Amino acid sequence: MPEIAYVNGRFSPIGEAVVSIEDRGFQYADGVYEVLATYGGQPHGMEAHLLRLERSLGELRIECDIREYGLEGIIGEAIARGDFEESLIYIQITRGVAPRNHEFPLASAGVSPTVVVTVKELARPQASQYETGVKVVSLPDLRWKRCDIKTVALLPNVLAKQQAAEAGAFEALLVDEAGRVTEGSSTSSFRVSDGEIWTTPLGGHILPSITRDSLLRAARDLEIPVREEFSLLEEYLQADEVFLAGTTTESMPVVQVDDTTIGSGAPGPVTGALRRRLIER
Ligand code: PDD
Repeated sequence: MPEIAYVNGRFSPIGEAVVSIEDRGFQYADGVYEVLATYGGQPHGMEAHLLRLERSLGELRIECDIREYGLEGIIGEAIARGDFEESLIYIQITRGVAPRNHEFPLASAGVSPTVVVTVKELARPQASQYETGVKVVSLPDLRWKRCDIKTVALLPNVLAKQQAAEAGAFEALLVDEAGRVTEGSSTSSFRVSDGEIWTTPLGGHILPSITRDSLLRAARDLEIPVREEFSLLEEYLQADEVFLAGTTTESMPVVQVDDTTIGSGAPGPVTGALRRRLIER
């Protein structure tokens, strides 16, 4: 099956797709993105992803009306062309091509956004990782103060994830200057203590994750109390359970943070109940 790219109106095999070297996404990371996964061949949470994309575009004043553009239809066509059993959909919209100047041109100057969609076969973490749980390492959160915008400026996330991988860990758990856990480098993070689920409140510190939202709704359905409040790293180390969540990760039990074993060292019951609820959907 071919991996599919869509760039500004044209579908092609991914290896043939190109954008200009003067694209502001390339020069300034001046762009936003979304990642979706299919379940049963259908993109999951489409409307939530489109709404978050619209918000990210609005916050950066990138003028692109994704409804008028027909983005949802383009995603559907790209999935059909890829014809994978389950697909990973990547959407990136940058401010477009313009001579390199820090200040940005508005659409009235004739600059139009670059719209990219790619479709590949979905690869999830290994089944054994969900069964045994994974290790994470804590690292300083070096990101900016607008992590609520899903921009392609991911260098601090990339460096943290690489450091985690080199330490044999699944993910980096990011910790701010006050010692508070924010989230993973590409996942939301949660702890369970005394039967309550704790996760970082929405705001500039974290991405408003769509999986986080689904899990918090599942917790409410299961009548598990949820506290959207900051936790210190110390509180994660002493938690009964820790887990991560994201579109490609779903929900992933964490059994070790740095050198500390979490709870019994095996995935806990709250993590398990929430995961079952999430993947049943
Ligand atoms: N990452 N936090 C960060 C920093 C993320 O990059 C992501 C997603 C999440 C989870 O969000 P969601 O549930 O909406 O996928 C949390 C995507 C998958 C990525 O960059 O590949």
